[in-house]
Amino acid sequence: MQRYNTMDTRALIGKVESLIRETGAFIKEELGKVNSDDIETKAMNSLVSYVDKNAEAKLVKGLSELLPGSGFITEEDTPDDRSKDKIWIIDPLDGTTNYLRQIPHFSVSVALQVDGVVQLGFVYNIMLDEMFSAGKDHGAFLNGRRMIVSPTKDFNESVIATGFPYENRETLPFVEILQELMVTCRGLRRFGSAALDLAFTACGRLDAYYECCLNTWDIAAGVLIVQEAGGTVTDFSGGNQYEEGDQIVASNGKIHEQLLSVIGQHMTLA
Ligand code: IPD
Ligand code: CA
Ligand code: CA
Repeated sequence: MQRYNTMDTRALIGKVESLIRETGAFIKEELGKVNSDDIETKAMNSLVSYVDKNAEAKLVKGLSELLPGSGFITEEDTPDDRSKDKIWIIDPLDGTTNYLRQIPHFSVSVALQVDGVVQLGFVYNIMLDEMFSAGKDHGAFLNGRRMIVSPTKDFNESVIATGFPYENRETLPFVEILQELMVTCRGLRRFGSAALDLAFTACGRLDAYYECCLNTWDIAAGVLIVQEAGGTVTDFSGGNQYEEGDQIVASNGKIHEQLLSVIGQHMTLA
């Protein structure tokens, strides 16, 4: 990682992971305790509670102490500050709908961007205590063990995840894409945490994942983790306009073109 020597980076990674695990422990502790009065609707189908907000506040406080002067791009209340060299991109609780229904599949996502390039990514699978991490040009890891994408080459053996956006569901051709994938791949999943969909693609549980209408905090960490695990990440046209989360296709690389081709047949691409 630029600007840090190896010792500094290792120490930073250890401290960031501890902070994320502490935040995850808080989220887990509150599971099942959120009342309907505690839940706000931010936008259509987009829910939030004190758990998301307090988790974010804990991360922002801890990360500000670790790298004084760094900026933040987050999902909840912290003001965006894109003017800094070092920016933490955070989704404090990815999978809020699952969380509020006590479906045990949600995560914390934290990325560190330095001079516009994501250098570190962490996705923490809270209920299974799985820390997915990556450092740019340094590989991807699951609880400290190096991981790589799946070897699946045959599209008809692939297991693919997707997500449905909160809005505009009726105007986007999801059903058509799903219908085609239903008969051309082995299995389709909709898990409900984009960050974990990417992490699962990186470690080979999934062969690919695609979604649209996301935000940078949903995917910043997961994209680096997939890339460092040897996978491919593009937008729906095969280009690199995925960083803001408008469109993303992540895969093991081997089935990427076939998935792009299915999506491209049904989406009107820019
Ligand atoms: C959501 C999850 C979900 C995806 C949604 C996201 P949130 O994030 O990642 O899988 O389909 O589009 O907004 O709201 O739970 O942080
Ligand atoms: Ca999210
Ligand atoms: Ca969230």
